[in-house]
Amino acid sequence: MPRYSAGFVTQSDEIEVDRLPVRGELPAWLSGTLVRNGPAKFEVGAQSYRHWFDGLSMLRRFTFSAGAVSYANKYLQSRDYERSTSQNRIAMASFATDPCRSIFQRFLSVFSPNATDNANVNVAVLADRYVAMTETPMPIEFDPHTLETLGVFDYERDGLKVATTTAHPHFDPWRGVLSYATRFSRTSEYVVYAVPRGQRRRESLATLRVRKPAYMHSFGMTERYVILVEFPLTVDPLRLAVSGRPFIENFAWEPERGARFHVIDKDRGSVRTHRGEAFFAFHHVNAFERGDDVIVDIAAYPDSGIIDALYLDRLRAGYPIPEAELRRYYLRPGEEAADYDRLIEDSFELPRIHDEQVGGGSYRYAYGVSTRRETPGDFANQLLKVDVHERGVRRWAEEGCYVGEPVFVAAPGASAEDEGVVLSVVLDADNDSAFLLVLDASSFAELARAEAPHRIPFGFHGAFFADD
Ligand code: CO
Repeated sequence: MPRYSAGFVTQSDEIEVDRLPVRGELPAWLSGTLVRNGPAKFEVGAQSYRHWFDGLSMLRRFTFSAGAVSYANKYLQSRDYERSTSQNRIAMASFATDPCRSIFQRFLSVFSPNATDNANVNVAVLADRYVAMTETPMPIEFDPHTLETLGVFDYERDGLKVATTTAHPHFDPWRGVLSYATRFSRTSEYVVYAVPRGQRRRESLATLRVRKPAYMHSFGMTERYVILVEFPLTVDPLRLAVSGRPFIENFAWEPERGARFHVIDKDRGSVRTHRGEAFFAFHHVNAFERGDDVIVDIAAYPDSGIIDALYLDRLRAGYPIPEAELRRYYLRPGEEAADYDRLIEDSFELPRIHDEQVGGGSYRYAYGVSTRRETPGDFANQLLKVDVHERGVRRWAEEGCYVGEPVFVAAPGASAEDEGVVLSVVLDADNDSAFLLVLDASSFAELARAEAPHRIPFGFHGAFFADD
């Protein structure tokens, strides 16, 4: 078993601790809650989930106030969680695990809201509500202080019948929350929509018809455009309904299709498409406009093998994990070909930026996880701060430590893009424990670490909600 396998072991304890032991000094201004999401239960009864993405969601929070930090963790009480734990078996179909069901049930689960609501990927604010999200369109509301589950967030009746979506929405200062969803049918569609500020209704901005929809985990956004990058990992929608295989296993890698970059005008709904060589990605880092060019920074893999590498049996057996590279794609009007260059030598995943200050081409810093060059194929074991102007990096790493997505929090009244802290939940593999790491975002030096009361399985994403 690899050292990092403790990050894929179920954590059954749900606890609350008022004050964590802190080494170093937390900034006095840091006030608010970091909520993180991720799978933490990998078996139900005698059955095991097959893929990292399938595990049942556990919310974790670190709340900062006056130089101290408290902690709590709680399982999200989704319908899937409740059914599965009460029946003591895996009750609903997810990304790569499917309990034995008839074709008819499967048909219902793919084309109706009967699919899993195990919202284990991310958290966000939608219509002033805190929600946990996954790739089925059923966000689940929770209380960020108690981590109590409040139920499925219902969109107002908007007629948007979609099967899958992204857990990585963007925020557009004029239009509200922007996202997209896929409708599977004989002729499928990607629907780009907005949830206007304070409303619970999705408003379609553009639709793209597609014969074989691609698996896409996130998207890019600039002031004028939404950018959907269609990787050649595609599905025949009919196959999805009748194959009898779990969701993602119906998708096929078709590198000859290449990658398609759809640049969608938010005002007009018009689309221009660029093409590049085949690649795969989960995460867009950022996108911006430079004149009429659109620049897309993305954490790219040569192919979709990363999805296979994240099956739990492979992770636990220590198969080498493919590494993403940070690429910058150039989409120029009148040029169909999308070309790219690689920004840094280090691998790069789980990217975050200082969202609030980014606009136009002004963005300079990205934060992410990476694998040290001395340990190729290992799980993420260093944090990076990337200067995309200078193409330089700063690193944080410690022997035996595996790092989670770094979340940037701006200091109050910050004038520089990197004035603030970076927060990351770290697994200390040798001690079977975890801690919250606080780095100075500018120097990338450690300011403090707060020792968690137990081992915390690896999470995917999270957000910092400042106290108002
Ligand atoms: Co993600």
